[in-house]
Amino acid sequence: MNGFNYYNPTRYVFGHGEYRNIGALLAPIARKILLHYGGGSVKRSGLYDAVVESLTAAGIRFCELGGVKPNPSVSLVQKGIQLARAEGVEAVLAVGGGSVIDSAKAIAAGVPHPGDIWKLYTREEQQVNAPLPVATILTLPAAGSENSPNTVLTHEESARKLGFRDERLRPALSIVSPELFLTLPPEQMAYGACDMLCHIFERYFTNTQGTELSDALAEGAMRTIMQQAEILRREPQNEHAWGQLALAGTLAHNDLLGIGREQSWACHGLEHELSAVYDVPHGAGLAVIVPAYFDAVWRANPGIFAQWATNVMGVTPSRDTELVITEGIRRLRAWYRSLGLPQTMAELGLPADADYAAMAQAAVSTYGARLGTDSLPGVRPLNTAAAEAVYRAAL
Ligand code: NZQ
Ligand code: ZN
Repeated sequence: MNGFNYYNPTRYVFGHGEYRNIGALLAPIARKILLHYGGGSVKRSGLYDAVVESLTAAGIRFCELGGVKPNPSVSLVQKGIQLARAEGVEAVLAVGGGSVIDSAKAIAAGVPHPGDIWKLYTREEQQVNAPLPVATILTLPAAGSENSPNTVLTHEESARKLGFRDERLRPALSIVSPELFLTLPPEQMAYGACDMLCHIFERYFTNTQGTELSDALAEGAMRTIMQQAEILRREPQNEHAWGQLALAGTLAHNDLLGIGREQSWACHGLEHELSAVYDVPHGAGLAVIVPAYFDAVWRANPGIFAQWATNVMGVTPSRDTELVITEGIRRLRAWYRSLGLPQTMAELGLPADADYAAMAQAAVSTYGARLGTDSLPGVRPLNTAAAEAVYRAAL
């Protein structure tokens, strides 16, 4: 195991009805906030009214900005920054899924940033002043943004989707009330489960040795995600299963499972190009990329893939490692299929003339440059040609 430095200061409040306490929980953090939300689900469900009531009862003043779209945009963030500055808010409260939370983090970082916020994502600007505190009420367990230091934005004009990370962007407060997930359509549950599973894959499949404890924690979380998603496929109103899935989703991406290990993020690098250019849901794009990626890389480290196939996918151990691994990947594909997730670029809705060479080039240059390499990292690093081959294997 490698050395690590892990700091996670989010107050994480879990339980039925806890969202009604947002005012009291937020009062020690800020007296005036920006209330940020998406395209309407929070109003339809009555959550918006409950939040306003709780804020008002606690004497917290607020201004608001709705309209965050999936794959959130820089343009709305810029609007939010202006509003937050004009109103003098002290924190941003995101009520929504990963897109709303990521947009809120960008606003929180943008308020004290003198330049163009997008330049923090492109790395053209590096100096980040202390962001405003972010609080969240999660309405969709998927991206893990409720406890991660990351935000991902899309810049529409350049069709780029880029992430930015600052440890100070971990939310100060996140509330997870599983009954809020009962209104989610089945495909969002499937996208979310697929995304959380991949957050663990990006950490678990490593060449770092001596990671027994985080391996075991990761395997337990992976099994939980797969089992609870299967339950929710049959019983979408099972609040207990939603709670288990949401907790696993937070653990999948708050980096506890990644401590002391070299991480990959190749699948995310490849998927973010699909979302940026074709606006596909992140979890759906991952379902197409991951099996093709596994096929391409497992031979570089059969040990960790065989361990996963037996401990997570339930394949009977055998001396024939190749058989064990390919059966594990076959079962993963079957699980994606059972959740109704796409398996090919065509099912994902990509056109026949999609420019995979350009997307591979963009993914490798974005992720490679950040890590000072000319390839996507992982058990087997992928250069541009190998990255394009993964896309094409999913045709
Ligand atoms: O906008 P509304 O009307 O609220 O509808 C949303 C949206 O259309 C709907 N929804 C959310 N909660 C609901 C609900 N519908 C009914 N009932 C509810 N309770 O769901 C739709 C999708 O929401 P979105 O926030 O886009 O989904 P998700 O949470 O999957 O977030 C995806 C974004 O997170 C990024 C992705 O790239 C993508 O942009 N990621 C962020 C990460 C991070 N910050 O750490 C890591 C991830 O790897 C990921 O890249
Ligand atoms: Zn993800």
